[in-house]
Amino acid sequence: MKLKRFKNYQELSGFAASEIANSIKDKPSLVLCMASGETPKLTVELLVKKLKEEKIDHSRITFIGLDEWVGLLPSNTGSCHYFFQHKLIAPLQLKASQYLLFDALADDLNNECEKMDTFINDKDGIDIMLVGIGMNGHIGFNEPGASFSNLSHVIELDEITKSVGQKYFTEKMELGKGITIGFKHLLNAKKVFLMANGSKKAEVIKKTVEGPVTENFPASIMQRHENGVILVDDEAASLLSKSH
Ligand code: F6R
Repeated sequence: MKLKRFKNYQELSGFAASEIANSIKDKPSLVLCMASGETPKLTVELLVKKLKEEKIDHSRITFIGLDEWVGLLPSNTGSCHYFFQHKLIAPLQLKASQYLLFDALADDLNNECEKMDTFINDKDGIDIMLVGIGMNGHIGFNEPGASFSNLSHVIELDEITKSVGQKYFTEKMELGKGITIGFKHLLNAKKVFLMANGSKKAEVIKKTVEGPVTENFPASIMQRHENGVILVDDEAASLLSKSH
């Protein structure tokens, strides 16, 4: 695992967007899996801009949505689906065969998980995973205690996730379960970027980078990934010991 520091959110997002765009140049059939949320917002915007401006062929990429709140309509502006659809899939005019998002309204959620696992395996795994980190150290909806060997799964959301998650919605939401890609896929991904910005993420970044590797603090799994890169701005890095 490596750590890269940036002056601010703009620089961090610019770096992540360039890394992905250049990887698509090198491998036009790149498989990209990404989180939604506040952190990757600017990265996606810059990525879309770069792909269009530089006319980088993205007609063969595959996109995979990392997770979803169970029971939410895709039209809900706080859903991951909405984020992926409006920020990436529509602007890049991805064809239906080029992406897969969890259907969190499906009657059989286990089948959704199997569908996702098969899709990832058929694509020979994920090339780049771009994830954020929750205030409880979660990645996707891999909540504290979730096994590092999980494939896609449905999980009872942690209290912190349910309360912090309210920020995405215009009115109070009853959040119960999440459906998410599991850590087995993360460990198998060829490259993983975990991004964090702002002083509110300083504590969880310290635990991720300097704490013990434990399922009780999910993001610590990054220490196990040879090609894992933590991208942080100065504020999120503010509690790290000087040696990084
Ligand atoms: C969302 C997701 C979550 C977020 C995390 C950080 O798709 O996977 O794990 O990445 O909760 O959220 P933000 O970026 O809003 O601070």
